[in-house]
Amino acid sequence: MCGIFGLITKKQDVPVARLIREGLQRLEYRGYDSAGVALVNDGNIELHKEKGKIVDINKNGALDNLKGNFGVGHTRWATHGPPTAANSHPHMDCKGEIAVVHNGIIENFQELRRKLTERGHEFKSETDTEVIPHLIEERIAEGDDLKTAVMNAVKVLEGAFGIVVCHAHTPDYMVVARRESPLTIGITPGETTYCGSDIPAFLPLTRNAYILDDDEIAILKPGEVDIFTLDGERVERDYITVQWSIDAAEKGGYDYFMHKELHEVPQKVREQVRMPQENIDAFARTIMEAEHVYITAAGTAFYACLAGKFQVTRFGKIYIQAILCSEFRDALEDAIPENSVVIAVSQSGETADTVEAVRYAREKFNAKVCSVVNVVGSSLTRYSDHVIITTAGPEIAVASQKAYNTQVTALTMVALRIAELKGYLDKEEVQKYKQAALKVADVCDEIIENEDHIKILAEKYAKKPNFYFLARGVSLAAACEGALKLKEISYNHAEAYAAGESKHGPIALVEDGFPIVFIAPPDSTYDRLIGNVMEMKARGGIILSVVSKDDEKIKELSDDIIPIPHDDDPYIIRLSAVMYVFPLQILAYFAAVHNGFDPDKPRNLAKSVTVK
Ligand code: G6P
Repeated sequence: MCGIFGLITKKQDVPVARLIREGLQRLEYRGYDSAGVALVNDGNIELHKEKGKIVDINKNGALDNLKGNFGVGHTRWATHGPPTAANSHPHMDCKGEIAVVHNGIIENFQELRRKLTERGHEFKSETDTEVIPHLIEERIAEGDDLKTAVMNAVKVLEGAFGIVVCHAHTPDYMVVARRESPLTIGITPGETTYCGSDIPAFLPLTRNAYILDDDEIAILKPGEVDIFTLDGERVERDYITVQWSIDAAEKGGYDYFMHKELHEVPQKVREQVRMPQENIDAFARTIMEAEHVYITAAGTAFYACLAGKFQVTRFGKIYIQAILCSEFRDALEDAIPENSVVIAVSQSGETADTVEAVRYAREKFNAKVCSVVNVVGSSLTRYSDHVIITTAGPEIAVASQKAYNTQVTALTMVALRIAELKGYLDKEEVQKYKQAALKVADVCDEIIENEDHIKILAEKYAKKPNFYFLARGVSLAAACEGALKLKEISYNHAEAYAAGESKHGPIALVEDGFPIVFIAPPDSTYDRLIGNVMEMKARGGIILSVVSKDDEKIKELSDDIIPIPHDDDPYIIRLSAVMYVFPLQILAYFAAVHNGFDPDKPRNLAKSVTVK
């Protein structure tokens, strides 16, 4: 779970080192504990790597001043070995002639390292990656050119990798290869070629991208790309042209990406409601035809699954079992029945546990896979029968919000389509729900326009060490997501519970001043929730409720409320999931800022978790 950025160009007077450093900074959300750059310069490799954030490492131009015509950089999120200069990438061979950056995990590195050490290689780091330059070094010593050496070296690797290799004595190209870890290539034909962990890394430089498949390698020359299988067969592939706007990948006028991205939520939800019907159709039919349906994801995406599964059951009358992707294999060992479908939800499409869950279900049990993914061409899309691409666009803040809201919206659209195909809703009613889904986006606009009210509340509650988030029904997903957000960016301990369950344990902790957030839309759960609010209030709990603007009962019992400005309309109330979670994401953002934390880069977390 690291960021890789490299470039090779024909153009003279290009600040290669600075462009690589800037590319890496666009990828810092993938990892930011150490970074390094290697450039090929006249038969030598110029290298600088250190622990820390790129901006600090480059304070005196340590990265920008590197000399060379082409090269590669890496921003790291430590897996094997702590964040130190020695463990940061690029890693080199014994002679310092081969530089390698890597994203992923080499599972058999201990065995490879032992054998290489026996053959006289010296290792400088604790990483799994370092075996790669030494393996390539051996092949080159045996007479392979760089391309063949990389091909032969990666054949002995087990595990996941996206790698880029530069060689001091191969002045006209660099090599990239991948298996199960992301790696994309950008090109300005005839002039410059880029490689990056994802497309936004090179978006300000080119919109043309090649997606590499598993077990492919590519030779990157200036403005020229040749792709091969690991057996050396040439792969004919055209580049695609990416539509994302550049400023979507930049911070705009906001202090943090998360704030900018929260402001984009209403529009992204609108775009998701309007996504082409064909995309939903095959997805919906596959779910309808299955006998067993599972839904899986990690983190925030899992809570989107909880909301989505509820909608599919509510509208389509199909029960879906939600299983965390990291538990998927253990929970379902040898027990996935025939004719099953797994719905996988992921912003990055690269979360290792999610990818592994679907591969397990697909390869061992022939299950069909329908995925909801934000990143075109990501690993998950390649293991899926049907894919819905969310309209979130690039999401830089580590904690997901645009993706969450578009995922819930996409799954709601699927639920409505299933209901229509099964005859539970007629066309007219589906249309009314779609109109209501667009109104949800308008409500989100109003919420964010009035974000100052949420900011004041965030500042009031930010220093409280513990929170409960309680709800019933579909709003339980909002409770889970609200608690996760507060925990992950503002570092307040927050637990979500089904409100009815709160008296079976959690209530023991409630005393004077303990804050409890209730998510209370005016739906079928409302009356039962009032009892839970009263129980907490009776024990001194401070009640912060998310309620309809017209609410009276829970408002009266609450210390503070966040009013949701929607009409008293049954269609929109049944689509409450997005508009009742959105203010909680905003609340977490302002709490984090108030507490002095960087909400874009929460400690110990990474945007894309490509390790199991
Ligand atoms: C990490 C991120 C979360 C994200 C989760 C799943 O934990 O910090 O924001 O929800 O991974 O990622 P995915 O890319 O699969 O949605």
